[in-house]
Amino acid sequence: MHPMLNIAIRAARSAGKVIMHATEQLDKVEVQQKGTNDLVTTVDNDAEQAIIEVIKKAYPDHGFICEESGELGNRSSEYQWIVDPLDGTTNFIKGIPHFAVSIALQVNGKTEQAVVFDPIRDELFTATRGQGCQFNSYRTRVTKAKDLKGTVIATGFPFKVKHYKETYLAIFSDMFDDTADMRRAGSAALDLAHVAAGRLDGFWEIGLKPWDTAAGELLVKEAGGIVTDFTGGHGYVASGNIVVGNPKVVKAMLSKMRPHLTPALSR
Ligand code: IPD
Ligand code: CA
Ligand code: CA
Repeated sequence: MHPMLNIAIRAARSAGKVIMHATEQLDKVEVQQKGTNDLVTTVDNDAEQAIIEVIKKAYPDHGFICEESGELGNRSSEYQWIVDPLDGTTNFIKGIPHFAVSIALQVNGKTEQAVVFDPIRDELFTATRGQGCQFNSYRTRVTKAKDLKGTVIATGFPFKVKHYKETYLAIFSDMFDDTADMRRAGSAALDLAHVAAGRLDGFWEIGLKPWDTAAGELLVKEAGGIVTDFTGGHGYVASGNIVVGNPKVVKAMLSKMRPHLTPALSR
């Protein structure tokens, strides 16, 4: 295993411990509002500190882009860690046991190592660029679906950007017609990991952030999937409008989106 992946796993497990400990005393967790329907807790911050501590100890010269603390460390380093310490904070606050730790390492802007850790199920999804995707140490692949028939597609509701509601629901409606079912589980990092593990056939969401997707994106690609924006291009890096699955599933999802795309969703 690559030594930097090893450190990423250690950091993710350390954050997982902080989160699991807090689930035992949820009433003690302090919640604050960051933005519209966007919450943060003391646990998000504590888990993030646990991650930074492990990585800094091993690699004191690396930089960080963290959801809660922002940019830290050596910003001119070629090594930058992208950290979402608790993906699925709303679930966590409500006591819904579905959330994850997401850590990616970018080297000169390219994601090389990825970890998504589900502390509730003790499930670890990892990837090193060019070496496939692993789920609890076993190699995983995206599903082999040829179109949307029989598929289960995950999504995230645009709860922070509700002005997209009409367009979102129009796309959802058209896609739902052809799939077996849809899921909105509440953690984009786990949605991506579960596509990589072949549990879900695809996933799409509007306006995700780099820390939501950086690790999951490498997992999906290393599992044989593709990642695009809503037009099939690479704009998702900036827009966070993301579509993932095997190439055939993504093509079928994009054809459902095309008739509804506004300029804001075409990047
Ligand atoms: C959120 C989750 C959620 C997605 C949101 C994300 P957070 O991350 O991934 O599933 O719908 O867009 O912001 O805020 O819980 O880290
Ligand atoms: Ca997140
Ligand atoms: Ca988060």
